[in-house]
Amino acid sequence: MNDNDLQRELVSLPIKYLHRFAKGRIHRHFRLGKRRLIDSILALPSDQKLAIAHDLEQLSSIPKKRATESSTAPRQTPLHPRPSSPKKPHPHKPTSPPIGLQDLLEGIGVPEPKPFVPDDWQRKAVEAIAHSDVIVSAPTGSGKTFVATEAIQQAMATNQTVIYTSPLKALSNTKYMEFSQYFGADQVGILTGDRRDNAQAPLLIMTTEILRNILYDATSGDLDLRLHTLGLVILDESQYLADPERGVVWEETLILCPTQTRLLLLSASIGNPQELAEWLISIRPTTSCHLIQHTKRSVPLRGLYLHPTGQLVPLLDSRDIQQQRKGYRFHPETKRLFSEYEFKPYH
Ligand SMILES: Nc1ncnc2c1ncn2[C@@H]1O[C@H](COP(=O)(O)OP(=O)(O)OP(=O)(O)O)[C@@H](O)[C@H]1O
Ligand SMILES: [Mg+2]
Repeated sequence: MNDNDLQRELVSLPIKYLHRFAKGRIHRHFRLGKRRLIDSILALPSDQKLAIAHDLEQLSSIPKKRATESSTAPRQTPLHPRPSSPKKPHPHKPTSPPIGLQDLLEGIGVPEPKPFVPDDWQRKAVEAIAHSDVIVSAPTGSGKTFVATEAIQQAMATNQTVIYTSPLKALSNTKYMEFSQYFGADQVGILTGDRRDNAQAPLLIMTTEILRNILYDATSGDLDLRLHTLGLVILDESQYLADPERGVVWEETLILCPTQTRLLLLSASIGNPQELAEWLISIRPTTSCHLIQHTKRSVPLRGLYLHPTGQLVPLLDSRDIQQQRKGYRFHPETKRLFSEYEFKPYH
């Protein structure tokens, strides 16, 4: 069977068969749509394609065989699905019509101004950072910056220096502007690969790589005297610790941080915060570590599907993704556009 024949056969099959062929041959095949799955199968080495062609031939022979088999023979999986029986209603099928794009986007923007009252988890985190390392694991937009600014204020009030790190230069620049407005421009400096401003300020914003390099210099004897007054290191987006390439930078930074310095790790997506806390305690035995976990999402998620032509449609047929956890349904327009894109016929 040549590639064209193989392709024709694959195109005619339901996608579940393609996944069956791809299993063990194509990494993360379950994430691919039909079109990309076929392309990946066609790109396999020829011995594997030969094996797939062989499986295909076996599959094709099943209906013929079954006609001659006795009724007691074991049933085999059909090549093509049987004509579908009338579908049972979905247990979570909403009775209302699918949401329109305008309704889905409504209300996004700046919330109504109201007095700021810190949440309990924010208060607990701020209290804990005064005497121990703290890991804050809380969803995006829940207010981790408040914990950071309060902790910075506490440290600066006792003349300690503070380092705030982020994984990206762009985020460091944003925080530099934000903190300069909040604490005053003379109180804040920045050190990234591109910028070095006000490096003597008590609050320094930098990328985690720069901090790791400073700590390297300190351990090699070229000691930066300001490390003696370093009271607090904040590692924003600390889930980078698990990054296969850059994670080592976070790991070394945590290991090399002076013991008198409190660590504040902020993240919306640490999968194993408890394990991380235990590891921190093991590498910093003289310091305790407090884990603050907050799971309630204050900014609701809304799902949208962006088609490659630029068309934007609601992803699901109702507004709130979280309420749909037990059985969500895709918006009919998303389904139509997605299948049009993934199942476009080959020329
Ligand atoms: N207790 C609170 N009550 C009301 N609004 C709050 C509270 N805490 C923080 N906010 C507001 O929530 C918004 C998002 O906060 P912030 O930027 O700190 O989120 P974050 O947790 O750092 O999110 P990300 O994971 O995206 O970095 C800000 O506008 C902030 O002022
Ligand atoms: Mg943040």
